[in-house]
Amino acid sequence: MQTEQPDAVNSLPLPDNAALTHSQRVRQCVLDKIAANGHLGFTDYMQTVLYEPGLGYYSAGSTKLGAEGDFITAPEISSLFSQSIAQAILPALDAIDTATILEVGAGSGKMAAGIIEYLDSINKLPEHYYILELSADLRLRQQQYLQQAIPDLYQCVCWLDKLPENLHAVVIANELLDAMPVVRFQKEQQGFSLEYVASQDNKFVSQFVQDNNNALYLRTAERITQLQEKGLELPTGYRSEINFNAEDWISSMAAQLEQGVIILIDYGYPQHEYYHAQRNQGTLNCFYRHRQHSDPFVYPGLQDLTAHVDFTAMADSAIKNDLSVIGYTTQSSFLFGAGVAQLAEEIGSEYIEQNNIAAQMELTNQVKKLTMPYEMGEIVKVIGFAKNCHARLDAFYFKDMRDHL
Ligand SMILES: C[S@@+](CC[C@H](N)C(=O)[O-])C[C@H]1O[C@@H](n2cnc3c(N)ncnc32)[C@H](O)[C@@H]1O
Repeated sequence: MQTEQPDAVNSLPLPDNAALTHSQRVRQCVLDKIAANGHLGFTDYMQTVLYEPGLGYYSAGSTKLGAEGDFITAPEISSLFSQSIAQAILPALDAIDTATILEVGAGSGKMAAGIIEYLDSINKLPEHYYILELSADLRLRQQQYLQQAIPDLYQCVCWLDKLPENLHAVVIANELLDAMPVVRFQKEQQGFSLEYVASQDNKFVSQFVQDNNNALYLRTAERITQLQEKGLELPTGYRSEINFNAEDWISSMAAQLEQGVIILIDYGYPQHEYYHAQRNQGTLNCFYRHRQHSDPFVYPGLQDLTAHVDFTAMADSAIKNDLSVIGYTTQSSFLFGAGVAQLAEEIGSEYIEQNNIAAQMELTNQVKKLTMPYEMGEIVKVIGFAKNCHARLDAFYFKDMRDHL
């Protein structure tokens, strides 16, 4: 079965000629992959348009994060976010022998700078702050940013090419899992089909294919059976995603972690909400210059594609790999539990002393964006896993929501 997406392109700003030429190269790369097999699995399509070296959205040179880019993340909104994360992880840093911090998928480097500066200010900075970043372009941008933002502390930052072994660390990642390529499926009258991308009249189109001989199909079948066993009946025509890459990432991380905690912050829901009958078109979102739409085929390589996270699946993967789930809560509760209100008050009282009303209002705005339910406060969740570490991270217990998973 083939379906064509509605034309989202008309509602978006027009890219300049250089960007359009770049997108044409990305399109050609996808077309070459389609030509090899007649179609390309949706996961491989997403992998190509986001991460193909030198071409993909995250791998090529455009500005992605912040006002100049396509979307905004919590560390870009306010350094209060990074400072609160730093406060939240203090008990773990104290409890782990020779602890380091490992940030995965560090974007512009803002969270790293905020955490390093804050920990240094309270004499708690570990010897190394590691960054594992898939995109060579972002790695370069992180290096340039951190060199100018924290010149005196820059020597503690180390970029890794792969996950280190026998890790003793606090691992943190903000909006990493939702940037990983997902499988998309559709429930059929009998069984289900997987989405593939094909080309027709020089346009990308979706194909939904039932193929019992394919390992990904069998893995998806197993998951859909599990969902049904939990009482999540998906009606015919229902479409959604599964992020096997994120589950596999958690198992690789668990294998390398000897002692530590992992804190993952992302847009998402527990499974019963993720696969709610009303969410029948899934959670895939596309962002181009702060415009959100649902057509993944628009401007390949120029727009971000992201799917929300099924946090129950993340917890299941962690438990299967000998990690314990130490917490699950909303971003708002996590930040309040970590002391964001006190941090904001301290900074705010300095602004008031200086009679800087504009800065004080901006600070209030930032706290609202990070914590209000209609902003990032409720839809973004924080999950924590631990191995051989019994530190109590109070930020998780402001509102313990593990029973929602
Ligand atoms: C949505 S951005 C978030 C960036 C940053 N954490 C923030 O909050 O602003 C996703 C980041 O994860 C990186 N990334 C995606 N998959 C990765 C992987 N498997 N390993 C390391 N980095 C990855 C991307 O290159 C990008 O830096």
